[in-house]
Amino acid sequence: MTPTDSPTAHSTPEPLDAAWAAFDRAVEQASGLSIAGLFQAEPERLQRLRVDAAGLHLDLSKQALTAEGLDAALALARAADVEGARGRLFEGFAMNSSEDRAVLHPALRAATGAGFAAKGEPVSGEVELTRARMKVLADAIRSGEVRGATGERFRAIVHIGIGGSDLGPRLLWDALRPLDAPFELRFAANVDGADMLAALHGLDADTTFVVIVSKTFTTLETLANAHVARAWLVQSLGEAGAGAHLAAVSAAPGKTESFGIAPDRVFAFADWVGGRFSIWSAVGLSCAIALGFETFHAFLDGAAAMDEHFTYAPLERNAPVLMALAEVWNRNGLGRPMRAVVPYARRLALLPAFLQQLEMESNGKRVTREGSRVLRATAPTVFGDAGTNGQHAFFQLLHQGTDVIPVDLVLAAEGDGTAGMHAKLLANGIAQAEALMIGRPEADVRAELEAQGKDPAEIDALAPQRTFPGGRPTTTIVVPRVDAASLGAMLALYEHKVFVEGVLWGINSFDQWGVELGKTLAMRVLDELEGGEAGPHDLSTAALIARFRAPTGQASGVSPGS
Ligand code: F6P
Repeated sequence: MTPTDSPTAHSTPEPLDAAWAAFDRAVEQASGLSIAGLFQAEPERLQRLRVDAAGLHLDLSKQALTAEGLDAALALARAADVEGARGRLFEGFAMNSSEDRAVLHPALRAATGAGFAAKGEPVSGEVELTRARMKVLADAIRSGEVRGATGERFRAIVHIGIGGSDLGPRLLWDALRPLDAPFELRFAANVDGADMLAALHGLDADTTFVVIVSKTFTTLETLANAHVARAWLVQSLGEAGAGAHLAAVSAAPGKTESFGIAPDRVFAFADWVGGRFSIWSAVGLSCAIALGFETFHAFLDGAAAMDEHFTYAPLERNAPVLMALAEVWNRNGLGRPMRAVVPYARRLALLPAFLQQLEMESNGKRVTREGSRVLRATAPTVFGDAGTNGQHAFFQLLHQGTDVIPVDLVLAAEGDGTAGMHAKLLANGIAQAEALMIGRPEADVRAELEAQGKDPAEIDALAPQRTFPGGRPTTTIVVPRVDAASLGAMLALYEHKVFVEGVLWGINSFDQWGVELGKTLAMRVLDELEGGEAGPHDLSTAALIARFRAPTGQASGVSPGS
C-alpha cells in the first residue's frame, strides 16, 4: 500500500457489523442500570475508567458505560481498525480522502528531527524551518530589535482570521495571557465592522503589528478585515511604512504576495494542516510573539506528549480512545444528542467555542468516506461555558431537563488568585458531577417536605419538581494547572478523540464541505444587496433581500425599512 492509497481499506464490513451488533446488545443489557450502582457492581471500575496521559488525569467512571459495554466498545474499535488508522494518520497517508490530503498536525508539534512525511514527501524539515523563523520574529519583536516604521517598539498585535485561524489563538491567549502582559493581543474575526473597530480602537499604528491569518487567503471575512487594517496602517505610516507592520500566515503564499505582504513576512503552512488543527503551525505566530516563543513551544510539547500517548498506549488505556468510546456509548448507544463542556477555570472559558469547531466541523457528517449514508448518528451538538458561570445558566436543564446531556468537566489542580478561592471552584465542579450522577430521589424530597409540615396535596405538587433523576454522565479531566503544556495536551486529547470517532463512524473528519453552500450563496446575495440583478429565490429570501437592498447607485447595508 502506498501513502496515497485510500485509508478506508481497513477492515471487512462483516466484523464491523458484528461488533456494532455486540455493542448494541451491551447497551441493551445495561439499560436500567444506574451509574452510581455500577461502582458497587464493578469492583474494577475506577481502575479501568481512569487514566493518566501526558500530565492529565482523565476520569470516565461517571459515564454510563458498563464493564461489558467497555469490552464491546473496545472490540468495536478493533473491528474498525482504529490502530491501523492511527498508524496511517501518523505515517502521512491521505486520511482526508475527499481532498486527497494527508493530515499531519502532529508533525507540527513533534520534536526536531521527527521525520514526518506527507504522502511520502518529507515535511519535518520545512516545519522546523518555519518554527525557527517564527522564533526569530517573535524574539526580535519582543526584544525591540524589530520595530515599526517610525522606530517605535511594537506594543500591540492585531490578529485577523476566522474559524480555525482564530479560535485556537484566541483560546491560547485567553488561557495564558499574563496579567501584566508586555503586549496587547487583539482579535478580529467577524466581517461585522464592529469587530475591526473594537480591535483597532485606541491603538497607535506606530506601535501595532498586524498578523493576517488565513489558510486559503480567500476568506471573505478575513480579507475584508485585512483591507481595513492595512488602510488604517497606510493612513498613518504610508504605503512603504505599513509593510513593516504586517505579517501573513497562509497555505497560499502566492495570494499573500498579491495582497502586498513581503515574502520574508509570510509564514507558510501546508495543505495537510486542517484549519481547525492549525494552532500548532504558524497560525500561532501572534501568540508566540505576545506570550513568548518558549511558552508557545511548551504548548507544542504538551501536545506532542499526548501524541506519544495516543500512539503507544494500548486501546484500553488510551485516553483519546476511551473518550471516543464513551461518546459513542452516549451518542449511538443511548441516543444523547448533545454534550456540554464546562471548564472550571475562567481561563478556559473559550474551550467550548474551540471544541464546537473541532468536533462539529470535523464530525458533523451524514455520509461515509465512500459516499453512502451513515447508519449511526455522528457528532453531538457541543456547547458550554466556564464553571461556575454555567451553573447559573444552563445547569437547570442538565439536572432536570427532558434530555440527558453528558458533560465534560475540566478541573485544574492548582488555581489562581486569593487563597481559598480555588477550593470553592473545585468543590463546585466535583459536586456538580456527583449531583448529576446520583440525583435526588423523590422519597427523600417527600420526607423533607413532610418534616416541614406540608400537606399531602402540596407534597404531591412539589416533590416531583424538587426531584433530581440523576444518571447524568460526566467525564472529568484534571489538568495540573492551566498552563501551556496542559492546554497543548488537552487540545491534542480532543483532536485524537475526534479522529477515533470519525474512524468508528466511517466518516472523513478532515473536510468541511458543509460550510461551502452558505458562503457561495452569501456572495450572490451580496451582489444583489449592492444593486446587482435579482436572482431566483424563495419568497422569504427575496423579501429579506428587498428589505436591505440599496436603491440603484447607493451603498447597501443600511438599516432596513419599516
Ligand atoms: O468556513 C470554514 C472554514 O473553512 C474553516 O474550516 C476554517 O478554519 C475557516 O473557514 C477559515 O479559513 P481560512 O483559514 O482559509 O481563512
